[in-house]
Amino acid sequence: METINERFDHLHPRSMELFQEAKAHFPNGVTHDGRRLEPFSLYTTHAAGARKWDVDGNEYVDYRMGHGALILGHSHPEIVSVVQEQMARGSHLGLSHELEIRWAENVKRLIPSIEKMRFTASGTEAAMMAIRLARAYTEKSKVLKFAEHFHGWSEYGIIGSGRSAGGVPPQILNTVVVLPHNDIDLVERTLQQDPDFAAVILEPTGSHGGMYPAYPDFLRQLREVTRKYNVLLVFDEVVTGFRISPGGAQVRYGVQPDLTCLAKILGGGLPCGAVGGRAELVDMVQFRGDAQWDGTKRVAHHGTFNANPVVAAAGLKATELVATTPVNATADRMAERLKKGLSEVFHTMKIPGCAHGVASIVNFQLANACECDRVVCTLPMEKLKAGTRPQLLQPLYRACLNAGLDWMGGTFFVSSVHTERDIDDSVNAFEKAVTACRAEGVL
Ligand SMILES: Cc1ncc(COP(=O)(O)O)c(C=O)c1O
Repeated sequence: METINERFDHLHPRSMELFQEAKAHFPNGVTHDGRRLEPFSLYTTHAAGARKWDVDGNEYVDYRMGHGALILGHSHPEIVSVVQEQMARGSHLGLSHELEIRWAENVKRLIPSIEKMRFTASGTEAAMMAIRLARAYTEKSKVLKFAEHFHGWSEYGIIGSGRSAGGVPPQILNTVVVLPHNDIDLVERTLQQDPDFAAVILEPTGSHGGMYPAYPDFLRQLREVTRKYNVLLVFDEVVTGFRISPGGAQVRYGVQPDLTCLAKILGGGLPCGAVGGRAELVDMVQFRGDAQWDGTKRVAHHGTFNANPVVAAAGLKATELVATTPVNATADRMAERLKKGLSEVFHTMKIPGCAHGVASIVNFQLANACECDRVVCTLPMEKLKAGTRPQLLQPLYRACLNAGLDWMGGTFFVSSVHTERDIDDSVNAFEKAVTACRAEGVL
């Protein structure tokens, strides 16, 4: 009987070869920290719908789904068609174009807190810009954020996110205060004691795709407290936008932030980002014809690929499909089926874990018996961390890949094209992987 690692090597000889080449070009052989994989990365060739294939011909049910961007699945025919058409008409015309207006209209229709917006080329830039706008508007310098919440890899976004902040100067570290989420009293005390906070920023369903959930009540309390202390509330909806509901987490929970960061689903699978919110905040970018304002106070905004027509075409189509077809309802239903299937595996295999998650995101932990409602898990973060520690997740992940199932760090992003068969195949693959882990004493 092969071990998990032997099987992994056996199934992926060409990936192993390519990885040896890649190591000469890229640190850890990869182009994004989140794609690092021991003992080597897998090299994919193509995808369709909910499935993808690697260079060795192995097929996977995919729940990485473009790091959460592909709620419509891979290569949705309508996205492919508008992208092909626009590519032939020009990928960058260097001036304004109508698609960006229509795209913005769709976004504003879905997310009513957005009165005005600017497109960026990534979620990192969106969060960076939201923080800049908040600082410029309030003329204060500090940002309050929450432990493990990730707002891209800019100086400000990376701090406290559970990732290394190497290269971030101490002066900047001192402007970001990191607190545990779900503790509103601590937030209030912090804002009360220091008048220099420009903004509070968070991932509204919690960090790591909601693996460590922020509670809906906490969002409502944050809204009240930030208002009380004149601090701006920024929702980083890069992951949750257009997914937690068509209007994101803010519409699902009825909490209006001052600024919203978007990316991922916004661009229909192409690189994108946006910041939107109250007009007077976004208008910090606007030239006023006043030399002092324009030259020193205004927030400058550039970006070669902002709202380029190819991304705009894809994003316009994606937001139209979210608004007019049951994309979210279908993905949510499939996620529910997946959650149920994983829970059954935990139950039958006597694993003290749980599968939880809001809308079409499914997370799991493997170490604690849990009485949560399977939507917003209420276990404390230390327990959730113990239940998702690398010693458990890494062998399980390799075993899942061996069984034809790909997910991302303990999170499944379910799309509107995952079918009942995809879900049932995934649950079977997960059970096989758990069995393999048990045989090796991992679980
Ligand atoms: C919540 C959140 N904010 C910001 C980002 C950064 O977005 P991007 O990868 O487009 O720069 C990410 C990326 O995963 C994210 O999850």
